[in-house]
Amino acid sequence: MRTRPDPGGLPEKNSNPLERGPRYRRRMPQLIAPTPRLHASWLAAHAEWAPGGDPGRAGLWLAAEGDDFTDPEVFAGWVALLRDQAGHARPLPGGRVPTAHWWIAEHGIVLGAIDLRHALDAFLSEAGGHVGYSVRPSARRRGLATWALGTVLPEARLLGLDRLLLVCDAANTASARVIVRNGGVLEDVRTTRHGVKNRYWIDL
Ligand SMILES: CC(C)(COP(=O)(O)OP(=O)(O)OC[C@H]1O[C@@H](n2cnc3c(N)ncnc32)[C@H](O)[C@@H]1OP(=O)(O)O)[C@@H](O)C(=O)NCCC(=O)NCCS
Repeated sequence: MRTRPDPGGLPEKNSNPLERGPRYRRRMPQLIAPTPRLHASWLAAHAEWAPGGDPGRAGLWLAAEGDDFTDPEVFAGWVALLRDQAGHARPLPGGRVPTAHWWIAEHGIVLGAIDLRHALDAFLSEAGGHVGYSVRPSARRRGLATWALGTVLPEARLLGLDRLLLVCDAANTASARVIVRNGGVLEDVRTTRHGVKNRYWIDL
């Protein structure tokens, strides 16, 4: 994975992107591997979502029920699981397909997350697709999700994939725009057990 150096060593004091210092104005997002060093910033991003209403808690399904993510050790354990997900060496929990996780970060601030599933299973073929992404509410509508998906496409090609399935709720205008901006072609609008879904393919 060609990512820029992990900016985790930068101070995390101003983890709210609305508190923009001079460096923040330079706006250089990166995709980084999840890291325990961005604990405070990840917590701040996480807190922006309403409890239970967070479709963007990428990888949280790996956590045990009731895990306290404010505990640095618990958080570090979860990050290790996330990083382990891309490996093919051993079976993943719940029969999940190998998945690479990145955080969208800027100057040590976590702004969102994106993940690339290396294969499709029955659920992903119908309602999940190859890629999942989310941007923290305070950082939306500045092109981050569009940029992040575009940045992941070459990584998918490196995995040997020649096209990607992208799926979003039919009512999710923003996600549909992100997909179409990246070359997504609508295959169908499908009523699934998980709601009405737009299913797109992106040729790589
Ligand atoms: C969907 C999501 C990732 C978009 O992130 P983002 O960084 O704000 O997206 P971008 O800034 O790249 O915007 C992409 C397009 O959507 C449009 N858009 C963004 N938010 C919008 C909204 N609330 N309503 C309508 N259009 C919206 C933008 O104007 C832009 O359109 P354009 O390409 O025509 O200019 C973000 O809203 C999110 O995290 N939502 C919750 C999680 C989620 O739904 N994930 C996707 C699951 S499939």
